[in-house]
Amino acid sequence: MLEAIKLSKSYNGATALDSLDLKIEPGEVFCLLGANGAGKTTTINLFLNFIEPSSGVAMIKGLDVTKEPLETKRYIAYIPEQVTLYKNLSGLENLEYFSALAGHEEYSREQLLKFFEEVGLQREVADKRVSTYSKGMRQKVGIAIALAKKAESLLLDEPTSGLDPKASNEFSALLKKLSGQGVAVLMATHDLFRAKESGTRVDYEARKTGRAVEHERDRARRSREHLS
Ligand SMILES: Nc1ncnc2c1ncn2[C@@H]1O[C@H](COP(=O)(O)OP(=O)(O)OP(=O)(O)O)[C@@H](O)[C@H]1O
Ligand SMILES: [Mg+2]
Repeated sequence: MLEAIKLSKSYNGATALDSLDLKIEPGEVFCLLGANGAGKTTTINLFLNFIEPSSGVAMIKGLDVTKEPLETKRYIAYIPEQVTLYKNLSGLENLEYFSALAGHEEYSREQLLKFFEEVGLQREVADKRVSTYSKGMRQKVGIAIALAKKAESLLLDEPTSGLDPKASNEFSALLKKLSGQGVAVLMATHDLFRAKESGTRVDYEARKTGRAVEHERDRARRSREHLS
């Protein structure tokens, strides 16, 4: 679903990402851990086609993101540290707007409310302006947008930074739910605990993915098989 092949990025000769090989299958949650400047955001920005690779390829569903920018964006949702929403619109209006932008104009109010509830947001806040929401609530709207978009891959850049433990736990539970539905997740995080909790695979240094540690993978796969 998400694949990087010898993906590299440098800025004026300085290496930001060095020959990353990575494959994330549907249902996997791949956590990128690493020091500041390790290349985590660079990796995500390359998948989003926000920046051009110096060499190598980033692929979504087997398509090169630089060659099929529009097609590949249809399959992904992106959740940064601060989900960007229109503050003067309600949570539900934001959800409606961003799903329509992704080509899903068909949702009724009731269907939109279902996405809202699915991520643990109360119906009572759906019509309140986003400017009144907490950070945890805004991040959840981001997940609701991903659900409404029916994104097959999710790219997350430190999505739980600044969330309290409860909100962070709820966010991880949502990621697990999405991975259970077959979504491929790539998450950059500094939170080792969160990575162990939510990750089916964890890599400690973005630039050295050849040495990826995969200890969580089999356990998560087994538990998913058990659930299904
Ligand atoms: N636009 C740019 N111009 C020059 N260098 C850049 C640019 N963007 C990133 N870099 C460099 O690329 C390297 C990787 O940066 P990146 O933002 O991917 O790290 P990161 O792992 O996300 O770090 P953090 O944990 O701080 O978010 C860093 O050395 C950074 O200085
Ligand atoms: Mg970063």
